[in-house]
Amino acid sequence: MTASNLLPLPDAAWRRRFRERLRRWYARHARDLPWRRSRDPYRVWVSEIMLQQTQVATVQGYFERFIAAFPNVTALAEADEEAVLRLWEGLGYYRRARQMREAARAIVLDHAGRFPTDRDAVRALPGIGRYTAGAILSIALDAREPILEANTIRLFCRLLALPLEPQSKPAQEILWAMAESVLPRNNVGTFNQALMELGSEVCRNRTPRCDECPVAAMCSARAESLVDQIPATKPKAPPEPRHEVALLIRRRGRVLLLRQPDGGRWAGLWDFPRFQVHAEHPDNLRRELIENTRRQTGLRIEPGERLTTMTHGVTRYRITLDCYEAKPVSGRLANGATTAKWLRRAELDAYPLSTTGRKLCRLV
Ligand code: ADE
Repeated sequence: MTASNLLPLPDAAWRRRFRERLRRWYARHARDLPWRRSRDPYRVWVSEIMLQQTQVATVQGYFERFIAAFPNVTALAEADEEAVLRLWEGLGYYRRARQMREAARAIVLDHAGRFPTDRDAVRALPGIGRYTAGAILSIALDAREPILEANTIRLFCRLLALPLEPQSKPAQEILWAMAESVLPRNNVGTFNQALMELGSEVCRNRTPRCDECPVAAMCSARAESLVDQIPATKPKAPPEPRHEVALLIRRRGRVLLLRQPDGGRWAGLWDFPRFQVHAEHPDNLRRELIENTRRQTGLRIEPGERLTTMTHGVTRYRITLDCYEAKPVSGRLANGATTAKWLRRAELDAYPLSTTGRKLCRLV
C-alpha cells in the first residue's frame, strides 16, 4: 500500500484553490530577503544550506558576508577551509560549511565550475539531500521539484490533520506526496518559497496566526480544532547536565589553541584545551585539570584563577563550562604544529573558533 492510500491527498479542485490563495497571499507578504534578489543557483544553494538549521534572521548577515567573500563556486572552491569556517563561525553545524567547500571543488572539477542543473548531479554533491536539491532546482531554475522542510512539514501536517509523528516513515511518504501533488506547472520556485513563507510566518509552531491565514478555511486541523496538537511531536528527553573545563594557558603573551580533529563535531575549528571533568573537591579537580592537559597537549600546567563560567547546550547536553587560567610549567607540545599553536591576541581574529572559545578570547 502506498502512502497516499493511507490518507487521501486533496483533489484537483482543492489544489487549484490552494495554489491561487497562496499565490495572492505571497504577492503581498513575501519578505525581501537577500537571497531572493537573485536566482543564481550558487546563491540559492548557500542560502538553503545556511537555512537548514538556522533562523532567517540569523542567516541574513552571514549570507551577505559569505557571498561578499566567496561570490561564486570558483571562489569557494579556491578558499582555505579556515577562511570558510571563519565566516561560518557562530552558525553551528560546521560540517555544512566543510561540505559546501568540498562540493564547490567537485563542481569545478566535474562541471567546469557551473552549478549542475541535472537532479542526479545535484544530489550527488556532498551535503545536498532531497530537500536542498529540490529547493535549488525549483528556486533557481523553476524545475518542477517538490520541497519539504520544517515549515512545510508543519503546514502540510495541519492542512491534512495528519495524526502521525512527522519524521516517521509513513508520514514522510505522505508529506512528500503532498509536496509533489500541490506543485503548479509554472513559477515553481516562487510557489515553494511561498509555502515556506506561509509555514514560517503564519502557520507557526506554538503561536499560529490562523486569523491571517489565506487557507484557514481549507485546513483540516483547524476544522477539527487540532491546530495545537498537530504536528504530533515526540516528547524530548530533558538535557543531561555535564561539567567541562576550558583552559586559557598563557605563555609570553600568547595563548594555546588546538585544532579540533577531523571527524568530530567541531572538526576544523580551533578551541582552548577543553574536556569533561568529574571531580567535586577542588584538590581533585586540580589533579584532573593537570592530568587531562598533559594527556591532551603534553604540557604540565599549573591551574590558576577561574575566569568565568558559561553554560551552553550541545545536542543532549546542558554544559557548564568553567574557564580557568593556567601556566605551563614543563613539557613540550605533543601535538604537531598544525594542531596546536601558541597564538598572539591579534592572530586569534583570523582563526575559526568555537562560540565559547570566541567568548573566552574576548575576555583575554
Ligand atoms: N527556510 C528554508 N529555506 C527558506 C527560504 N528559501 N525562504 C525562507 N525560509 C526558508
